[in-house]
Amino acid sequence: MKNKNPLWLDNAVFYEIYPQSFNDTNGDGIGDFQGIIEKLDYIKELGCTAIWMNPCFESPFGDAGYDVSDYMKAAPRYGTNEDLKRLFNECHKRDMHILLDLVPGHTSVEHKWFKESLKAEKNRFTDRYVWTDSIWEEPQGMGCIRGISDRDGSCAVNFFSHQPALNYGFYKCDRPWQQSMDSEGAKATLEAMKDVMRFWLGMGCDGFRVDMAGSLVKHDEDGKGTIKLWQNVREFLDREFPEAAMVSEWGEPDKSLQGGFHMDFLLHFGPSHYNDLFRCEEPFFSSRGKGDVSEFAKKYMENYEKSERKGLICIPSGNHDMDRLARSIHGDNLKIAFAFLLSMPGAPFIYYGDEIGMRYVEGLTSVEGGYGRTGSRTPMQWDNTTNAGFSAAAKELLYIPMDESPDRPTAQAQMSDKNSLRSEIKRLIEIRQSRKALQSRGDIKFIYAEKNEYPLAYLRGSGDEWVLVIINPADREVSFDCRFTPVDTIYSFGGDIKAEEGRITVPPCFAGYFEV
Ligand code: GLC
Ligand code: CA
Repeated sequence: MKNKNPLWLDNAVFYEIYPQSFNDTNGDGIGDFQGIIEKLDYIKELGCTAIWMNPCFESPFGDAGYDVSDYMKAAPRYGTNEDLKRLFNECHKRDMHILLDLVPGHTSVEHKWFKESLKAEKNRFTDRYVWTDSIWEEPQGMGCIRGISDRDGSCAVNFFSHQPALNYGFYKCDRPWQQSMDSEGAKATLEAMKDVMRFWLGMGCDGFRVDMAGSLVKHDEDGKGTIKLWQNVREFLDREFPEAAMVSEWGEPDKSLQGGFHMDFLLHFGPSHYNDLFRCEEPFFSSRGKGDVSEFAKKYMENYEKSERKGLICIPSGNHDMDRLARSIHGDNLKIAFAFLLSMPGAPFIYYGDEIGMRYVEGLTSVEGGYGRTGSRTPMQWDNTTNAGFSAAAKELLYIPMDESPDRPTAQAQMSDKNSLRSEIKRLIEIRQSRKALQSRGDIKFIYAEKNEYPLAYLRGSGDEWVLVIINPADREVSFDCRFTPVDTIYSFGGDIKAEEGRITVPPCFAGYFEV
C-alpha cells in the first residue's frame, strides 16, 4: 500500500471551522460560506495553512449536520454548491487547503436512501442500511429504529436514534440477517460513498475528515474489517485522487494509518490518554501541577512506533464535541498548552476561537443536538461591535447565544496586543514553520515524562537538527536530569532555565524550545 502523504501535510497547521458559528454575512444569524471566505485572510495571518470544515450538507440538523439528507448538496443556509466551490478556490488562491467532513456511517432519516429502504417491497436501497429481518429482533449492541414503516425489521442506528446506520457488512455474521462485507448491499454502500468523494474532490476540495471512521463494519472488535474497507478506499484514491488528504475520527492511529489514512486524531474517547492533558480532574496543563503526562507519553510512543511513522498523529486543541480548552486551562497556561500542541509531530488542529481562548459558555439549552457540546459551539467573537461582529441579526436569532461576559476575548483586541494568546500562537506557528525538526514529520523522543512529575521534556529532530522542548505548566519551579545541554534559545515563555551538570531547573509556568 502506498499511503503517501500529500506533501503539503508536512508543514500543515489546521484550523477547524464550525460553519454555523463562524461568520454570518446575510444577517440570518447563522454563519455561511461567504463568511468563511471573508475570514480566510484572518486564518492565514494566524499562520494556519489548512481548514477542516464541519458538515455543510443538506440536513434536518438534528445533529448539527452530522445527519446528512443529501451528500451532494450544500445546505442552503450556508450557500450553494457554487459558493462552496468558490470557497475551495479562494483557499487555493491563498495557498491553503480545505477538507470537508465526510459522514459515511449513517444518514439522516430524511435521506432518500432511507425513505426507500423503509419500504416493504424490495428495491435498490433495501440493503443500504443495517436491518434485522423481523420487527421483533433488535440488532445486538446497537440502538435501533422500529415500527415506523411497513418493512418488517429493525434498523440499527449509529449515533442518535435519527441516524440509521449504513450497511458496510459485518466482520463476523452470526444471525441470518447480518450481511458480510462482500455482500452486494455492503459493496453498493461503499461505492455510493466513493461517488460522494468523487463529487467533492472533483469540485476542488482537498480531502476529508471522516466521521466515526473506525466503526463502519459491524461486529469488528479489532477493526480488521474496517481497516480492509479503508484500504479499498485508499486504492480508489490512489487511482483517481492521489493528492486527496484523509484524516480519520478513529483515535487509534495504529489501525487508521494501516487503513490508508494519512492522519488520525487523538480524541477525548479511546485509548490515547489525550484527556490527561487538558480535560480530566487534574489535567497536566493546569497550573495546579497535579497532573500526570506519563501514560499519554507512553501510549503516544506506542502508536508512533506501531504506525511506523507512516502517517500523522494529530493532537487537536479541542473540537466541536469537547469542552473548550479554556474551560479547564486558564491564563498563561493556555500559551503553554499551545507551546506543546505546536511542537508535537503530526499536524496540529486549532479549533476556531481557541486561538483567542474562547470560553465554554455554561448553562445553554441544547441547539441542534449539541447538548453539553453546545457551550463549545458559540459564535466566534471577532470584535467589539454588535454580536461581537459575528452577525447583523437580532440577538434572539443567533444560531447559539454568544458568550455574554463583558470581558469576553475578541480576535481584534488580541491581534493588536503582542502579549495576547493569539499573538503567542502566531509566534509559535512561525517558529514551527521555520524548522523541519518541529514540523509534522520531525522525529520525537521523550526525555522526561515521569509519573506525576513535572516538567515534560522531549526532543524533536530532523537530519542533524535537534530541538529540546521543555514544558512546565505547574506553578512551581521544577528540575530534572537531562544529558542534553541547551545551547541556543529558539523560544521561551515564562523566564529562564538554569542548566548545570546534567540537571535543568525550570521556572514556574514555563515553555521553551532550545537547540542542543
Ligand atoms: C462524530 C462527530 C459528532 C457527531 C457524531 C455522529 O463524533 O464529531 O459531532 O455527533 O460523530 O455523527
Ligand atoms: Ca448567514
